[in-house]
Amino acid sequence: MLITEEEAVKILMLGDTVAVPTETVYGLAALATNPEAIAKIFEVKNRPADNPLICHFHSIEQLARFVKAISANTLLLLNHFSPGPLSYMLDLRDDSPLLFATAGSRQVIARIPDHPFFLSILRKIDAPLAAPSANTSGSISPTTADMVEEDLGGKIAGIVDGGACTVGLESTIIDARRMEVVIILRPGTIGETEIQSVLPGISVRSGENETKAIPGAKYRHYAPATPVTALKNMADIINHPGSAVFLTLEDMQSITRSTYPVLTSKNIQLLSIGSLHDLPAMARNFYRIIASVDTLKVEQAFFLLPSFGNTSLGKALQNRLDRILSL
Ligand code: TXA
Ligand code: MG
Repeated sequence: MLITEEEAVKILMLGDTVAVPTETVYGLAALATNPEAIAKIFEVKNRPADNPLICHFHSIEQLARFVKAISANTLLLLNHFSPGPLSYMLDLRDDSPLLFATAGSRQVIARIPDHPFFLSILRKIDAPLAAPSANTSGSISPTTADMVEEDLGGKIAGIVDGGACTVGLESTIIDARRMEVVIILRPGTIGETEIQSVLPGISVRSGENETKAIPGAKYRHYAPATPVTALKNMADIINHPGSAVFLTLEDMQSITRSTYPVLTSKNIQLLSIGSLHDLPAMARNFYRIIASVDTLKVEQAFFLLPSFGNTSLGKALQNRLDRILSL
């Protein structure tokens, strides 16, 4: 059910959950300081109890009230990228009211989201909101209100429709607590290049201890219900009758005219993920296109492996694809 911002504020204040738009993916929000509200998020998502919830704030000042110290590097990045798709690991104050949201961890992952509706809700409530991606644990993050409705519609008090997410992939998560190094715990649109442009001379490391630092990384993630397997060669497509194949627009265009009737006769459906020349658009549409395979009712899907390239966004797309592929 679609609800307004005002209705969302009321429902959240009463300790219930609602789905909200962010620039990355839709989040399932609840009062981060309310244990019962937090418990509802875990229940609705069927989320393992040891997987902490990312918390959202409306400003750096508000965030500062909940954490011990904000390191110099964190503050420089916050000033530069907030609001935006960058999340920070920070140390909670002792006796923090966020310990339920973090599943007992003394660290919180925090961000200031860049969506006018969500920011306005956060300001009106003036308390942090926990909001993991608004999907059942293990399935794909939703990037439209329809995708949320499809997955969680029957289980939550409402959805604030803020349109399609403009980024389309989850935020980058970093640990910038140390002086000499920034660690990327989950890649996203803001990557090494963008971080180094704000912190010249600081080394930025990727992927290190990802599964140890971020509990969510150890669970199967971001995958549709239909099994998706990697396909290395274009020519192999015809060996999989009755399947669906994800491929880039460029790969789609390189299929010869004479091949099309063969694909049709073998009932092979092609799903274009967009052009490698417009990675931001590809990221925006990525999860929606991947999730759409479940509506085709095919037993198996294939992904013709593209080369996303070495930009931060290319690496983030590769990271999400790796999680989709059931190798
Ligand atoms: O873009 C995003 O970050 C979206 C939007 C809604 O803000 N949220 C999101 O939340 O992607 P989620 O829960 O799907 O992914 C957050 C990841 C999970 O892998 C979780 O394990 C990890 O961050 N995480 C959250 N809090 C943590 C903490 N205190 N310590 C370690 N890892 C944490
Ligand atoms: Mg998630």
